[in-house]
Amino acid sequence: MAKREIAGSRALVTGASSGIGREIALELGRRGADVVVLARSADKLETLAAEFADLPGRCAVHAGDVVDDAVRHAAVRRATEAFGGLDILVNNAGIGALGPFETATAERLRRIMEVNFFAAAELIRVALPTLKHGRKPIVANVTSILGRVGIPHSSEYCASKFALEALSQSLRAELYKHGVDVLAVAPGSTETEFFDHTIEMASRPPWVGRNGVPAAAVARAAVDAIASGKRAIVPNFRGWLMCVAQRIWPGGVDLVLRKYA
Ligand SMILES: NC(=O)c1ccc[n+]([C@@H]2O[C@H](COP(=O)([O-])OP(=O)(O)OC[C@H]3O[C@@H](n4cnc5c(N)ncnc54)[C@H](OP(=O)(O)O)[C@@H]3O)[C@@H](O)[C@H]2O)c1
Repeated sequence: MAKREIAGSRALVTGASSGIGREIALELGRRGADVVVLARSADKLETLAAEFADLPGRCAVHAGDVVDDAVRHAAVRRATEAFGGLDILVNNAGIGALGPFETATAERLRRIMEVNFFAAAELIRVALPTLKHGRKPIVANVTSILGRVGIPHSSEYCASKFALEALSQSLRAELYKHGVDVLAVAPGSTETEFFDHTIEMASRPPWVGRNGVPAAAVARAAVDAIASGKRAIVPNFRGWLMCVAQRIWPGGVDLVLRKYA
């Protein structure tokens, strides 16, 4: 994993219209990177692009659904056309749902896997030929502590994030020979609009909307990790403790989590 200059880098950030992705795009822009921002909400992306006027980095808007293969190809092309290439791909777009697995629809599982996992995986595939020509290229996947600890009433979300963690680990080894680094950013509870955007809220676990860290702090940690060439980070102390507990006493974590089922 290489150290890299953020200034002068060319980045593509998915899910940049709000929350962590928006803050990552701004943090990259503050440090002098040029950023293609992708999400469905064109109006929010235009507002974000206007904020780049005061920053050293430039911003190019690409509105669309990351699940759409044509949108993914066009977003990578946009980075080349606007900035001459791509060095940093941030797979951040994500959605969730809350409620028991048994009574949920198959569509809930499929939609979450489509956005959180398949779209991210396929965007990496589309971007790789361009990234390989980039300067110290890196893929940064925004996973979750729920990609390391599975909790009740978020089964589809946890499955999608475990899958993205696994993909990150496999590709880190596989892409080493091509000089492409892979970082997994696993946030814990973060203050964003995530729970306003859930595709279903069939239950409301007590941790929803509590004790979140600011999205800007997660973004700073993510961009620091990109710059310093870290392989994985958990930018949340409580979340980190949960991951450690799962490693050293998984049965104990089961005992706690079953109370919330
Ligand atoms: N908030 C937390 O506590 C937390 C904790 C751990 C991990 N995460 C992860 O952090 C990432 C960002 O979430 P957030 O908390 O910042 O939530 P958020 O504010 O809801 O942001 C989600 C972003 O993803 C975009 N998005 C959703 N579906 C999309 C699609 N089909 N195509 C393109 N863009 C899409 C949304 O934009 P549009 O609606 O405009 O498309 C939005 O910009 C997610 O991967 C999430 O799983 C969040």
